[in-house]
Amino acid sequence: MIVTTAQLFKVAYGKYAIGAYNINNAEQAMGLFKGCIQSKAPFIIQISKGARKYTDTKMLEAIIRAADEIFPDAIFAVHLDHGDEETCYDCINSGFYSSVMIDASHDPFEKNVAITKRVVEAAHKKGLSVEAELGMLGGVEEDIKVEDGHATLTNPAEAEEFVKQTGCDSLACAIGTSHGAFKFKGKQSLHFDVLEKIKARMPGFPLVMHGSSSVPKDEVDRINKAGGQIKDSMGVDVNEYLPAAKLGVTKINIDTDGRLVWTRVHREFFRDKPQEFDFRPPGKIFIEEYAKFIASRNQLLGSAGQLDEVRKAVTKK
Ligand code: G3H
Ligand code: 13P
Ligand code: ZN
Repeated sequence: MIVTTAQLFKVAYGKYAIGAYNINNAEQAMGLFKGCIQSKAPFIIQISKGARKYTDTKMLEAIIRAADEIFPDAIFAVHLDHGDEETCYDCINSGFYSSVMIDASHDPFEKNVAITKRVVEAAHKKGLSVEAELGMLGGVEEDIKVEDGHATLTNPAEAEEFVKQTGCDSLACAIGTSHGAFKFKGKQSLHFDVLEKIKARMPGFPLVMHGSSSVPKDEVDRINKAGGQIKDSMGVDVNEYLPAAKLGVTKINIDTDGRLVWTRVHREFFRDKPQEFDFRPPGKIFIEEYAKFIASRNQLLGSAGQLDEVRKAVTKK
């Protein structure tokens, strides 16, 4: 069942976080739905601009609609990840998405406000909610690279002003994470102080954490043993997900970790079976391994086991 992100946030806020997982193809979709059903968790499917271009937006939509039929117990929202203004309008008008993210965080404050406000107006007219971003995460996002040292944490006073001026429904805050597999040099923690200040100014307002992959060391070690060369990677400490959720982080975005599962499965498979060229056997292993991974993340986010309560809340007359 496709629901809105707002419905999911309402149930989860302050208690646990909803996992927001990116998908690009049928294998990821199968693993994601299986893992969420196994762990009885609601979830958010994220579609990036890159994912929309990878095959075709229609293909992704058909995959998701098919998965919804195959797994009738699933409860999820469909969200555009890191949209520009044009892509937001496209998704708003498609009638398929539950919510969009307008990411104008690389623009100055006033321009970010103006763009976000326009998207909010268009989205609200059609009943979709809008995630916006303030502050700058480090690392690489599709076509934008923020160099080390140029990332900026979200300013809590500005965040309050931004939400007031734009009317956005949730806010992605920069609290020390970055996209990809190389988030930190050495041990580092999320900036809980920033979250506390934002929550104090906007109690009840859903916050979003991007760049939340944990980049498991055992996964990276296995990839490297099978011929990979991923050096000095470092992710978010999984034990910080739930404390962040209690401070208002209601959506936690995880993409890179899924790519690592895919890479590990395929590297090991073709290393061990060099004569093999059928992609279905490793594809099947990936689906199972990704499902296991997703279930483990939902446990850590606190969303595992919440499906029945969410169903009651979203079907209540
Ligand atoms: O934040 C970016 C997400 O991980 C999506 O990545 O733009 O390469 O699809 P992508
Ligand atoms: P990761 O690169 O840490 O998985 O972050 C994904 C993300 O923020 C998608 O918007
Ligand atoms: Zn992101």
